[in-house]
Amino acid sequence: MRKAIYPGSFDPVTKGHIDMIERSAKLVDELVVGVLNNSAKNSLFLVEERVSMLKELTTHLTNVTIDSFDGLLVDYAKRIHATIIVRGLRAVTDFEYELQIAQTNHKVYSDIETIFLTTRLEYAYLSSTMVKEFASYGGDISHFVPSQIIERIYAKYGITS
Ligand code: PNS
Repeated sequence: MRKAIYPGSFDPVTKGHIDMIERSAKLVDELVVGVLNNSAKNSLFLVEERVSMLKELTTHLTNVTIDSFDGLLVDYAKRIHATIIVRGLRAVTDFEYELQIAQTNHKVYSDIETIFLTTRLEYAYLSSTMVKEFASYGGDISHFVPSQIIERIYAKYGITS
């Protein structure tokens, strides 16, 4: 059985992430979306909020589960018996960082393979960081994130519409 992890911060989840989840779920038997619970990182949403938004947005995908993890990704992968890590590549600028992580993870856990999916062109520019910047100024984020979570993002900045 092919069990994969799609790890990330998802702070907040974007349309690009959802597209990656939908596409990678087709390639494996089971996909676990692993939300990094990084207390050191100043995240906009609590990990529980990020998990709950992802759950809401993936109810149509029967082989996808949402979970959170802290610590090293490889340790988490071992714990849940996943052998594949899925990551998205938006542009060549992502490559160097992703290559380094993939090679490091493979070095310490040789059973794990990282596979990369290129993001769809329409989401190639998209990042959670950019969404937060836009939202903080009250900018229109409807192109970037699923409609169900737009209000929750604005609310974090005290913006109501
Ligand atoms: O969405 P992001 O923030 O680009 O995701 C990065 C993530 C979560 C994949 C990466 O930071 C990670 O795996 N963190 C867990 C800690 C870890 O294993 N670090 C070592 C990587 S060499």
